[in-house]
Amino acid sequence: MNKNIKVRLMEAKDFEAVVKIDEYVLKQSRREYFEQKFELLFKSGEFLPTSFVALNENDDIAGFIMGTLYIGDYGISRDGATIDAIGVDPDYQRQGIGEKLMDEFIFHLRQLEVTKINTLVEKNDARLMNYFDANKFSPSKTVVNLERSI
Ligand SMILES: CC(C)(COP(=O)(O)OP(=O)(O)OC[C@H]1O[C@@H](n2cnc3c(N)ncnc32)[C@H](O)[C@@H]1OP(=O)(O)O)[C@@H](O)C(=O)NCCC(=O)NCCS
Repeated sequence: MNKNIKVRLMEAKDFEAVVKIDEYVLKQSRREYFEQKFELLFKSGEFLPTSFVALNENDDIAGFIMGTLYIGDYGISRDGATIDAIGVDPDYQRQGIGEKLMDEFIFHLRQLEVTKINTLVEKNDARLMNYFDANKFSPSKTVVNLERSI
């Protein structure tokens, strides 16, 4: 466990660092995806801030968790929070940063009285599956992801 890590809410200025870490872990850039996400999360006013970054000993960003919680016409949806992206700099993985980000995320959502979080994970991504399993996520009993090849 790395004790020098601090976690704070993600801000619009974290864009480049988030894109860079995501590129490190996926080995491809998703700049456009994050441009749209940051636009929605920080400019639209339709989402509550639920994304966090982890800072290393030099206050550089070592990881992030990006969540979405929509503020609808009838208020916050209690089971409508999702995790859309997560990433920890490979130099800082297996030091408990992913867990710390998840703990902050959940603590924050509980304060907002959210009771359920959803996320989609590729079944053959053992690292991500293990990570979510270690953080007490399990396959949904009520929702199935349907698909059709065309
Ligand atoms: C998954 C990820 C966020 C974990 O971050 P991390 O800071 O290394 O995680 P932690 O150190 O908090 O690990 C928590 C637990 O998750 C599991 N875990 C994490 N990395 C793992 C790995 N490489 N293999 C197996 N289990 C793993 C373990 O159970 C671990 O507990 P342990 O270290 O006590 O065994 C990180 O590996 C990552 O960024 N992966 C790429 C994510 C990705 O593909 N993002 C794009 C799609 S959204």
